[in-house]
Amino acid sequence: MKHLLKLGDLSREEILSILNLADQLKYERNNGIRNECLKGKKLGMIFQKSSTRTRVSFEVGMYELGGYALFLSNRDLQIGRGEPVEDTARVLSRYLDGIMIRTFEQKEVEDLAKYGSIPIINGLTDYCHPCQVLADLMTIRERKGSFKGLKMCFIGDGNNMANSLMVGAIKTGMSFSIACPKGYEPDADLMAWAKENGDFFMSEDVLEAAKDADVIYTDVWASMGQEEEKKLREQAFAGYQVNAKVMSVAAKDAMVLHCLPAHRGEEITADVFEAHAEEIFDEAENRLHAQKAVLCKLLK
Ligand code: CP
Ligand code: NVA
Repeated sequence: MKHLLKLGDLSREEILSILNLADQLKYERNNGIRNECLKGKKLGMIFQKSSTRTRVSFEVGMYELGGYALFLSNRDLQIGRGEPVEDTARVLSRYLDGIMIRTFEQKEVEDLAKYGSIPIINGLTDYCHPCQVLADLMTIRERKGSFKGLKMCFIGDGNNMANSLMVGAIKTGMSFSIACPKGYEPDADLMAWAKENGDFFMSEDVLEAAKDADVIYTDVWASMGQEEEKKLREQAFAGYQVNAKVMSVAAKDAMVLHCLPAHRGEEITADVFEAHAEEIFDEAENRLHAQKAVLCKLLK
């Protein structure tokens, strides 16, 4: 594994190996065991979009592993004034040991990897969010013991989260269903891959998709960069909400996960969110452990 550009690039074994290391790093942290395996290493973090969890977990993660993280905002970098990615990649490769980037186009992440000579980590694009899904998988295994026989259901926009969850679920052997309105389906190639490689089901009917699900997942109706579509999307997604009715058809002990930030009263009701807050904030915490595992694998 040289980069983390998207989950589809990783084998099932590589994913499980990251999750195992994340569990170990969490255990060490909880027991006051220091692990400075990235002593002296430097990570650049390019952000072209906002972030709370990704930024803080990568920065704290690097610090805890003995390394250093630089926050590089689009507003300050020359990339924001049009300096080409291929030049930025070659320059930053001379200073840093790795780059985490959050941006719009997946191609920009792929180009950084193509032109640079250091590991590149995708911290979210419009296409996918692999770091989040590693933390999600960690949280599911932590609570359910294994992935065997589990059904994950995603309700809402077929966005970056849906794309990565679909790949992560299928690669770890879960079945995956999605309920989304027409015109808001996940990436067509990924859906074809999911159908070929696992148990995949799509419906416009929320209750049909959520039936007997062990993990219910949702995300915002309008992602970063789609702010202008907010009103239109509120109409399209009315009914695509995780609420008590949805939970009544899911498995009795179903978990609810949300990558956050959440919009209560839109994709999830406040009561369902609060009833599952323990899981959702464990999931947010696990970003730190999962990120550290990725950093160790790529930068060590
Ligand atoms: N879930 C997630 O990636 O959160 P941030 O946007 O706060 O990084
Ligand atoms: N789909 C959301 C995820 C945020 C973590 C977005 O891209 O804004």
